[in-house]
Parts: sequence; structure tokens; C-alpha cells
Amino acid sequence: MKLSPLLGLAVGSLAGLGSATHPQPRNFAANDYYVLHLDRAVQPEQIASRLGLRHEGTLGELAGHHLFSARKQEEDIVRRELQERKRKRSLGGQDHLDFVRFAQKQKLHEPLKKRIIPPKPAGFYPLEPRQQADANAVIRQQAVMQQLGISDPIFHEQWHLFNPVQLGHDVNVTDVWLSGITGKNATVAIVDDGLDMYSGDLAPNYYAEGSYDFNDQSPEPKPRLSDDKHGTRCAGEVSAAKNDVCGIGVAYDSKIAGIRILSKLITDADEAVAMNYDFQHNQIYSCSWGPPDDGLTMDAPGILIKRAMLNGIQNGRGSRGSIFVFASGNGAANDDNCNFDGYTNSIYSITVGAVDRKGQHPYYSEKCSAQLVVTYSSGSGDAIHTTDVGANACYTGHGGTSAAAPLAAGIFALALEIRPDLSWRDMQYIAIESAVPIDLDTEEWQDTAAGKKFSHTFGYGKVDSWKLVEVAKTWQNVKPQSWFFSPWVHVHHEIPQGDLGLKSTFEVTADMLKEANLETLEHVTVTMNVEHARRGDLSVDLISPSGVVSHIATSRKHDASKDGYADWTFMSVAHWGEKGVGTWTVIVKDTKVDTNKGTFTDWHLKLWGTTIDASKAKLLPMPTDEDDDNHDDVSTTTIPPSTTTLPPGAADTNTLLHPTELPTDHPDRPSKKPTTTGADGLPVSTGTQEEAAASTSASSWLPSFLPTFGAAPHTLAWIYGAMGLIVLFVCGLGAWWWIVRRRRLRNSPRDAYEFELLNEEEAEGLAGGVEKNKRRRGGELYDAFAGGSDDEDDGEDDDDDHVRRGAAAARRSIGSDSDEEVDEKQSSRLLSHGR
Ligand SMILES: *[C@@H]1O[C@H](CO)[C@@H](O)[C@H](O)[C@H]1NC(C)=O
Ligand SMILES: *[C@@H]1O[C@H](CO)[C@@H](O)[C@H](O)[C@H]1NC(C)=O
Repeated sequence: MKLSPLLGLAVGSLAGLGSATHPQPRNFAANDYYVLHLDRAVQPEQIASRLGLRHEGTLGELAGHHLFSARKQEEDIVRRELQERKRKRSLGGQDHLDFVRFAQKQKLHEPLKKRIIPPKPAGFYPLEPRQQADANAVIRQQAVMQQLGISDPIFHEQWHLFNPVQLGHDVNVTDVWLSGITGKNATVAIVDDGLDMYSGDLAPNYYAEGSYDFNDQSPEPKPRLSDDKHGTRCAGEVSAAKNDVCGIGVAYDSKIAGIRILSKLITDADEAVAMNYDFQHNQIYSCSWGPPDDGLTMDAPGILIKRAMLNGIQNGRGSRGSIFVFASGNGAANDDNCNFDGYTNSIYSITVGAVDRKGQHPYYSEKCSAQLVVTYSSGSGDAIHTTDVGANACYTGHGGTSAAAPLAAGIFALALEIRPDLSWRDMQYIAIESAVPIDLDTEEWQDTAAGKKFSHTFGYGKVDSWKLVEVAKTWQNVKPQSWFFSPWVHVHHEIPQGDLGLKSTFEVTADMLKEANLETLEHVTVTMNVEHARRGDLSVDLISPSGVVSHIATSRKHDASKDGYADWTFMSVAHWGEKGVGTWTVIVKDTKVDTNKGTFTDWHLKLWGTTIDASKAKLLPMPTDEDDDNHDDVSTTTIPPSTTTLPPGAADTNTLLHPTELPTDHPDRPSKKPTTTGADGLPVSTGTQEEAAASTSASSWLPSFLPTFGAAPHTLAWIYGAMGLIVLFVCGLGAWWWIVRRRRLRNSPRDAYEFELLNEEEAEGLAGGVEKNKRRRGGELYDAFAGGSDDEDDGEDDDDDHVRRGAAAARRSIGSDSDEEVDEKQSSRLLSHGR
């Protein structure tokens, strides 16, 4: 049966507007699943019959993406057929497969890791005797309870909502409630290990249509494993009802949905569907999980999940954009940093770190330049008191950044009650605008170009509900988003060790931004390639034209990976509000003087911000993945080789080998580096005018850019003859290198090498007191740990052995419907290595 395209479209848009339809049940024991992105010119039924697959329906809300199934087998039969077709394409003829833009066989992988409180390193924030409550504050608390009719038994313990002990260290919400704003008509989805919709605290606000269990394929995201409690505890922080059960949520009249993905192995396809589940009604997705916070992992969401997030931004919530809230991560004691996590450093997520009830930075909460704000969680001898799994169960020990993210999500829900029209970017602006800097004396704070204070530890500060709602009330929606992508800046130079850094710059001109329709900056991202024998030794700073420094990468003591940074994208929110015109500097450091060395290969800068002319705003195309057999949207723009001038003698192997292909990680990047005209009339790349000009004295028979060394013509013939041979040799070498490193080379050529070694003073000056200060703190941290256990796991049952056993158990239990409590419990504890 075929639907006509028109009917298909109508059905599709109806589905988009209505509530979510439950995904077709998957049978992973018997079937393989494939996601295919199809051109509109072909019907999924045609593809299904061509490939002998079953069409299982569209992939959630992702336009053009379809799920197909086949009988389980080792081979990737879709890839095989696509490759076969590719080989025969030159013979011509028509084939439905020519309309497949992307194909991916689905693999079940370990679920992401919950951001529960990590074990306390020895010597940190010891338990202290509980301080006395302030008598006046207690009276005020009583009055608030009376006025609002709060009789929830543990409200007194919920210091994060009203703290009568450490005055001012709460989310400052009671006056918001008293003004009548309690989250009505706002909906938060907790993406986690389930949600106990039968808890007396959550049942009144439970939103069933927006809920789904992707692990056990059931409409109810019921916690089923013995440790499926995390999601319920997070949900309680947001939306526990005002009644006689436990406490209340910060937005206690909001609706709450549960999306269960963390309790069993899962596919990228299902994770992608989950991130867009009922995305017209689920407004905020609260995500307290991510890749392991072990200080070793450097992991980003797969391409389908990236697409789902962008899809949520562009089409969710009536195109105002889903609000994705992510916990920054709990790996600070492992030197982990939220810029090594592709979820928290996405421009589409609001990354929330933790602060404890004394307003101090807790030992676990990760720092990074992508962190927007912090809010309260465990530390200084207490934790978050919230609802637990059970009809009337409470929990007193909820914490980690896991507890901070939902609290912020609930506060954003308060803003959405009164301003459902706020866009995803409006929400980020409002969070920045209303954040309150804390701990100004002891943590590093910088003045930003926008007149704010930014710290890598606290972002723009802690969330203040009252201020946030006040700012939201009168907020003027910002203009649509624009972006400027620089070309790749090639460095290819060894990184000096120690305090010296390797510096590379890119000059952004007013014209570039004008052409990009970019007015004022919001996020800045840097995508880079660095090779290094020990990745954890590296650190990277990004310095804006106005001098604001983002520590986009920091060294990580446990990270001994030899993979370096391969097309990794770092993000910073510290440059929010800057104009962006001028010199952007990247400084890569190899912090350890030892035999582990490395090379800074290349980088490019992406500036994101508001449009100048909103009417010319564009939608960002879906991201692609170059590992997809080139069946994806490959950029075909070319760049004239003449825009690059090579230094004399130094054959630019990249240019020679791969002259026309642009980097494919985004189809919309500008096609060439803006050029200026050199002294000889040749176009030269902006960064290297002087070099180029210096090399342009030429004798008559030589091309003007080749130097003559003041030698006679016949000598020159010899010199260049010899050089020709060398170039040939280099080409051969390069060709071999290209084959080995094909992927890297997609980051194409065209710019001359650009870098500069820093001298010691410069290096220190640039990093400022901040960097030194940080290092000293790092030292203290390290020493403190030396006394304790070096093992970052709590020794409970997360040890490697267990993980391996768990993995085997989990594989056995896939697809079985029985409640194999033990196996399931183990599978839920898997670390998600190398997704
Ligand atoms: C907290 O809320 C009150 C109103 O209840 C407001 O006056 C104050 O500015 C807010 N923020 C702080 C940091 O006190
Ligand atoms: C609740 O939100 C929906 C859209 O999500 C809107 O149509 C409706 O008017 C809102 N109701 C109230 C009381 O604000």
C-alpha cells in the first residue's frame, strides 16, 4: 500500500501537531533496525521493497528519516547494497537507492550515565554539625506556608526552596509563588530512568501523553529496576504537588512527563526519538546524564541525536524550540570538564552546574566555558530532599549536578507559565541576565564584553527564580539566529611544552559578519584537530578580540588517550554579547614537559548570534556525519586553489592532494577564506600577507612567487629541479598519508600555516592571574586526593569486573520480556564507554 505523497504530507503534519504517537515496538532479539534518510523523490515503501526491508514508520519527528527492519544478521545489508549501487552508478540507470541520503544500522549501546552524587574525595567538605536556623527566617517560612497552604511534611527540609539556615542560599522562589506563578500550563519532561507516576507527589501533575518508556517499550515510564529512582527524584524537584506527600517541586503546578532511556541498552534511533518525544507539548527536557564523568571520556551524541536536538530547536514547541537542560557533570574531582561532553557543550543545551547550601563549589561539579548557570545541590553536609519511588516515599540524599539541572528546569517552567512564547535562545538570555554571581572572592570571575561576570566554575552565576521570572516578564524576543563560520586555519606545528603555548589567530572583519548577517555574539564554538601522545596534557584557551578568555579545554590528569582532538568542537558562552570583530586567538598548550608530544593541526571558529536583518534569517541545515559513506548531504562547494599562496619550497601537501573538497561537517560553511590582494596582485590569505609579500621577488622565468636566492638562472634551474624532485617525493609521501588519514584531510587546505610561539611573559599574561590561580587550586585538589583513594569509583559495585559481567548479562537480557531483576539491574549500571 502506498500513500500518495500529498496524503503522506497531510498525515505527517497532523502527527506533528497532535500528541506523540507511540513508537512501533522493536524486537531487538529477532531484528536489525536501520535508519534511512530519504530524499522526497522516493517513497519508503519503494526503498523497503528494493532492499527487502520492512518499513517501521518515520523516525520520531525527524523529517525524511525512516526506520526499517530486517531479520537479524551480522552484515549491514543496507550498506552493502548502497556500496554495490555506488559502484554501478557510472553505468547509469535509475535506482531508488540513489535517493538514500543517509543510512545507519542501529546498534544497541550502553545507556548514558546518571549524574548521581559521586563518592566524596577524602578531606573534602566534611560533615559539619547542623547550624541553627535563623528565628526570623523560620517565622517567614511559616507565614509562606500558611499563605500558600503548604502542608507537605518535608517542606521544612527543602532548604533549596527556602533556606532558614544559610540565608539567601536558596532559589528565591517563594515570592514568585506568592505572586501566583507556580508552573501552571508548563510541561517538563524528565529524560531518565523512569518516573513513578503512581507516587502521590507526582500523580496529580503527571502528563501521560508526553511520557514513554523506550527501554521496556511501554507507554508508562514506570521505574522497574531496583535503582530506577533517579528520574523520580528529579521529577519531584520540578513538579511534586502541593499536598500532604513529601515536599513540593519548584514549579509545583507544572505538568511532568517521564521518558525512560537510561535503564537498558538503547539505540541512537530511540535516543533521537526520545529527545523529540511529544515536542509540541513537552517544553523542557531535563537531562541529568551523559557520557561517563571519568575524566577520560570525550564523547558526543551520535549524528541522529544531534539531528534530533536541532530538530527540537527548529520545530519543537511551535518552532520556539525545545529547552534542553543538561547537568554539567560530576567529574570535577577527576579533572573532567563539561567541554569534553558533546551534550553539555552543545549550543542547544543549557548546561547547569551545582552549588551547595553554603554557596560553595562542590567537589564534583564540572567547570567549563560552556556552562551557563549553576543552582543548588548536594555538598557542605546536606543534599536535596525530594520525592522518591513509592506511593509516599521521600528521599533526603539527592545530589550531584543531577539534582541541579531539574531544579533549573523547574524554574524555567515558571518563566514559561507567563511567557510560553520565549524561544530557546530567549531562555538562555534570560538565564544569563538574571543569574547572580556568587563567591566573588574565591572563584575566578571575568568581566565580559556585555558587562556581565563569567566564571568557568559558576557560569554567569546562580539561578534566582524571582529575578529570572521578572526578567522574563518584560523580555523582548530576540531576533533569529545567524552564524559565521571561518575557514579552517591550518597550523601543523609541534606544540611546545610547559607554559609556552602555540598561538594561532584568525581575523574577523566587520564585512565578514555583515555578510553573515551576524549582529551580536551568543555562543562561540571552535572545532579543532590536535594530535598528541597523551591527550590529558593539553589545554586550550580561546581569546576574543575584546580580551575575554575562555578555557575551552583544560588538562585532565587521567586522560592518557592517544587520540588527541579529532574534529572536536568546544563551546563557550563567555563571549555572549560581544561584537566579534577583530582577532580571535587560540592558544594550545602542552602542560607537561615529557616525552608525550603533539601537533596542533588546524581549527576553525564558528560565531553564533543574532541576525542583523531578521527577514534574511536562515535555518541551519541538519548536521551530517562524514562517516556515513558519503550518502549524506555532502558539500559540493569548491574553492579556487589560487586563493592560497604557498610559502616558498613548502609544498602544501593538503592543497596538492585534496584541492577542492571542503570540510563536510557542515554544508553551509562559507566556501573560501576572504582574501586580500598581495603586493604582487596575487590573492593571498589574510593571515599571511607579510609572508607572501616577502617571498615575491622573482626572476623573469620563474613564477613570481618563487624566490631566486639571488642566484644565476642555471643555478636556479638546478635548485628548482632538485626541489621538484623533493616536491614529488613529498607528494608521494603525502598521498600515502592521505590514504591513512583520509578523514582528517577532509578538513581541507586552502589556508597557509598560521601560528606563533608564545614567549613566557605573553603566555602568563594571556592566561592572567586566573590561570595561575586555577593551577594552584588544581594542585590543592590533587594533594587532597592523595590522602584518599585514587579510585574514582565508589567501590560499591561499579568496578570493571562488574561492568564486564553486567555487559554480558545485559546482552543476554535484551529482548526478554521477563523482569530479570538482577540482569536488568546490572545492565543499568553499565558505564557507557566509547559510544
Ligand atoms: C529574591 O527575591 C526578592 C523578592 O522576593 C528580590 O527582591 C531579590 O532581589 C531576589 N534576589 C536576591 C538575590 O535577593
Ligand atoms: C496553555 O498552553 C496552551 C498551549 O500550550 C495554550 O493554548 C493555552 O491557552 C494555555 N492556557 C493557559 C491557561 O495559559
